[in-house]
Amino acid sequence: MTELDQFITGLPKAELHLHIEGSLEPELMFALAERNGIDIPYASVEEVRAAYEFSNLQDFLDIYYAGAGVLQTRADFHDLAAAYFKRAAADGVVHAELMFDPQTHTDRGIAFEEVIEGLLSAMAEAEATHGITSRLILCFLRHLSEEAAFETLAMAEPWIDRITAVGLDSSEVGHPPVKFAQVFAAARAKGLKITAHAGEEGPPDYVYQALDQLKTDRIDHGNRSLEDPELTRRLADLGMTLTVCPLSNLKLCVVDDLKDHPTDAMLTHGLKATLNSDDPAYFGGYVGDNFKAVTEARGLSKADLVTLARNSFTGAFLPPDMIASYVERLDAYAAAHC
Ligand code: ADE
Ligand code: ZN
Repeated sequence: MTELDQFITGLPKAELHLHIEGSLEPELMFALAERNGIDIPYASVEEVRAAYEFSNLQDFLDIYYAGAGVLQTRADFHDLAAAYFKRAAADGVVHAELMFDPQTHTDRGIAFEEVIEGLLSAMAEAEATHGITSRLILCFLRHLSEEAAFETLAMAEPWIDRITAVGLDSSEVGHPPVKFAQVFAAARAKGLKITAHAGEEGPPDYVYQALDQLKTDRIDHGNRSLEDPELTRRLADLGMTLTVCPLSNLKLCVVDDLKDHPTDAMLTHGLKATLNSDDPAYFGGYVGDNFKAVTEARGLSKADLVTLARNSFTGAFLPPDMIASYVERLDAYAAAHC
């Protein structure tokens, strides 16, 4: 490991864009398929990995939703999240905000309770075992209707104080943020924070809609905002956190080469970019791998890395005292290592 890689691993960081279903490694997929008596259309772990070649977001989503079919019980959701936290701890993650897609499970007859209780038990354990704090972001699937999103929000009601934010994910193009304006207003009225995938494949207009129609506190991805200088300035002036995912962008052909990745361009424009793994089991790496890959491809400095980590804390959906204490920890690390 290079000195810079060691610096990255030790750098205290928050992960703000992680779909917990996207952390399902093929090994666990096989183990859960066996535990639950489910047939999967692959003969081996190697065959599963070989299938992970995508030319766009939809290619990936088709495989990702199929893979999630092995998740049946609260023990499965617990084991999934426990495996993620173990990997995250090894990468210096001290706080993680987990997105989950309830509709992927409730639509195939799995109770919302099984999903969320499994995740919550792993989150409590992660704090005790690894010292990682965490929060939950309930995502609505945008290829489904707003009515279905309202039904999901109603299902979540008994756990609403255990959920920090709502998000919007799945197939972006053709499903603009405005389609979900009412349900996001209802979520906001319940005190939930708001985030949305926008500008991953969709145009800058979808980022404007996320800001104006959904009133987002963060933007997930946001890459295509850079096509519009006025939007870029507005995001910078707002101090809007962007949860950027380099290896995802490479695997889903949002960029052709990491050498063209816009992480440092975002920082230069004054955008609050953060680095995240999105769906690490599918895209070839966890958050540390994302930091290392983009650092090598773009020649990021230690100062850039500290800025990215700082943005991950200031953009976290945490109370100000917790943010301040994480930033202090980061500053101490930077002072000792820079
Ligand atoms: N669901 C899981 N990963 C996603 C991504 N990168 N974009 C949209 N929806 C997703
Ligand atoms: Zn995502």
